[in-house]
Formats: sequence, structure tokens, C-alpha cells
Amino acid sequence: MLERRADGFFVEEVQLDHIAESVGTPVWVYSENQIMSRLQRLQSAFAAFSYQICYAVKANSNLSILKLFKDAGAGFDIVSGGELERVLSVGADPSTVIFSGVGKRTDEIDFALKAGIGCFNVESEAELVRLASRAKLLGRVAPVSLRINPDIDARTHPYISTGLKESKFGVPLSQAIELYRRAASDPALKVTGIDCHIGSQIGETAPLLEALDEMLKLRASLESAGIPVHHLDLGGGFGIAYQNEPDFDVEAYGRAIAKKVRGLDLTLMFEPGRFFVGNSGLLLTRVEYLKPGATTTDRSFAVVDAAMTELIRPALYSAYHEIVPLASTHELPRVWDIVGPVCESGDFLAKDRSLALTPDMLLAILSAGAYGSVQSSNYNTRPRAAEVLVSGSEIRTIRRRETLRELLAIERESLQGSL
Ligand code: LLP
Repeated sequence: MLERRADGFFVEEVQLDHIAESVGTPVWVYSENQIMSRLQRLQSAFAAFSYQICYAVKANSNLSILKLFKDAGAGFDIVSGGELERVLSVGADPSTVIFSGVGKRTDEIDFALKAGIGCFNVESEAELVRLASRAKLLGRVAPVSLRINPDIDARTHPYISTGLKESKFGVPLSQAIELYRRAASDPALKVTGIDCHIGSQIGETAPLLEALDEMLKLRASLESAGIPVHHLDLGGGFGIAYQNEPDFDVEAYGRAIAKKVRGLDLTLMFEPGRFFVGNSGLLLTRVEYLKPGATTTDRSFAVVDAAMTELIRPALYSAYHEIVPLASTHELPRVWDIVGPVCESGDFLAKDRSLALTPDMLLAILSAGAYGSVQSSNYNTRPRAAEVLVSGSEIRTIRRRETLRELLAIERESLQGSL
């Protein structure tokens, strides 16, 4: 999404220096056209069968971004009452919302039942029992899918691999039929589908297609047991290029799915997040200080004004994000660790990067649109950064920088009267 031109670095028609000057740093910058073209790419890849895309809100839940998806006809995959509040507040049709997650609280279930969401992806027997009792109490019928844990290795980072039996997610295949029977016989529940999400940042189609095979087998067994299902939710997880790895091949995936489901009366649901927004966003930061090592074996640090509080992925998953200096210099390149101001040695954004840097230089940290701002924190009492959406030559601040006053307000409330 970052384009180098003779007169600087651009996102769409906007020069990044201009955003840094007008909004300050650190700041998230997203490209509207890139997000939408990724959505269109998926839509064409899946055109040969009936499908519904439910954007995984957790990847980037900014309201203006959710609105883009809603206006483009996408539904939403949510994992909390908070995310439900977000999608409803941009006018999402509740029937296009699916609720995933292993720990749905009673108040969250009630909220979703009253809103009339499209489906609950249930992850355990205990949750099924709770959902049925809440639905009964509220006089509703809860649409349900069971999230199946097919014990398939998504071959991704262990923290974001969810389809192996040692993970906390889903119901083992061996218990599925029994639980479906229970759901089907409960008047407060209506079985609508089967769900599966085996992990995130998946590079190959094979594990996902293997999971689809398992779900098709389960669907056939359920049909024989007199429990028809109308949709299969194949989850999200399509990997993107952070370094040199190829993007997940959605076209090949679409072709393979089309072959497997030909002739079946089924809608396929998908819950991608990262695929749309990951490479549609960057984090713009400024070098505060350079601390070159005294000898060639000492480490050299570039201290920037973004930190693990903005982008925790490098610290948490050893994730790689490309770093691009936005100006050229006559300085020679040197191997730098790019670090933030937070008081932790784990506070780094990149290690061992050969870059020519000067103080005050702007840096773009790429592929930061997914699981970036949403995972940010106020650690070290750092107000959260602004977010900007670029569309053509238009810049819109879609979340202004948090102020210290806002950050402290809910704690000051409890001091009132005691000071
Ligand atoms: N559906 C479910 C049930 C999920 O748990 C997730 C992601 C998705 C869909 C969307 O997955 P995606 O298409 O975005 O890969 N913080 C980590 C990623 C955690 C993913 C959690 N679940 C990271 O920064 O890589």
C-alpha cells in the first residue's frame, strides 16, 4: 500500500509526511481502496458458490472500517458484547452477525439474543446449556452452529493455532453428533450450521480443505440423523505477506471449495479479518533517538515514538514487520534494533534491520492494519495513537489521539470527594 514516488512516500494520493505533520506520530494509516479491493478479490474468488463473508471484527474494529464492510454488504464475526455494540452502531443487519468465542458471558448472550443475531457458534456443552436456558427465559429461539475442533494442524504460530485438540477451542468431532442431537431436540435452539476455525495466518490451503472435508462428512452424518444444516462456516485465517511469503491463494481455495460443494444445498460462511486489513494499514512513527553501539559487536538501538503498546505483535509472536525509512540520507546503513520508549526489554518493533537512519526521521511499519491498534494498550500511561483513513486524496481521522484527561477520567471519578 506504500508507494515510493519522486516526491516522497504515498498511501493512495496522500504523502505520509503530511499525515505526520497534521496528525502527529505515532499514527495508524489505512487505505480504504486497498481494504475494498481485498474484499472484492475474495468475492470473485468465491463467486462459484453461495457464500457470506463475515468480517472478523477483532482484526480491526474501528467503526469507520466496520462501516466500509457493512456498506459493501459484508456481515460480521464478533467475539464479545463490545464487538456486537460496535457492529450495531454502524447499522449492521443483526441477521448477518455471528457470535464466536469460548467464553460468552450470560449478559453477552442475552444482548445477542435480543438483537436477533444470525448464529451463535457454540464451543462447549456447557455453553449450549447456558444458551438454551437464556433463550427459553427470554422467549427466543437461538440459532446455533457447533464449532468443531477437527484436530488439524494449521501450521502457523502456536498462539494462533486453534484447531488442534490441545487448544481450548471448539468441540471434538467425537462429541459433535451427540451435542447436535441435544441441540436439535431443544425447542429453544435451532440448528443452522457447522463451524470451524483452525487458526490464523495460515499459508496453505491444504489444512483448511482438510477441515472442510471433515465438516462435509459431519454434515452427511447429521443429515442421516435427521438434522439438516444449511451452512458451513469455514472460519478465517487466510495468511498475508509480511516478508517474502506469498499471500494465501484465495483463488485456488475458492476453486477447490467449489469442486467439493458442487450440487449441495449449502451456504458457506467465512470469517476473515487479517486478509482484508493486514496489508491495508501501516504504523507511522518517528525516530526519537539513535543509540549506536560503541563497537561493531554492540547492538545499536533506534528509539522511536511507537512501542509495544501500539504494535505488540513483534514482542508477542516474534512477528516480522517491514520497516521503511521515509527519507534518504547520506548516512551509511547500520544494523539497528527498532525499539520503543516502554520500560521493557521486550519492547521492540524489529531486530537486526540494516537501515540508514537519522534522528527525527519518519518510519513506516508495514502490514500493521490487522491486530495492530486493536491490541494496543495504555501501559506506561501512553495515550492510544490516532487512526487515519485515506481514500484517494482525502484523509479522515477515524479515531483521534486519546488525551491524558480521557485516559485518567475513570480513575479520577473514584478520587472525587477523597481529595
Ligand atoms: N474467526 C475466529 C473464530 C477467530 O478466532 C479469528 C481470529 C478469526 C475468525 C479471524 O482470523 P484471521 O482471518 O484474521 O486470521 N493477534 C493475532 C491473531 C489472533 C487471531 C485470533 N482469531 C496476530 O496478531 O497475529
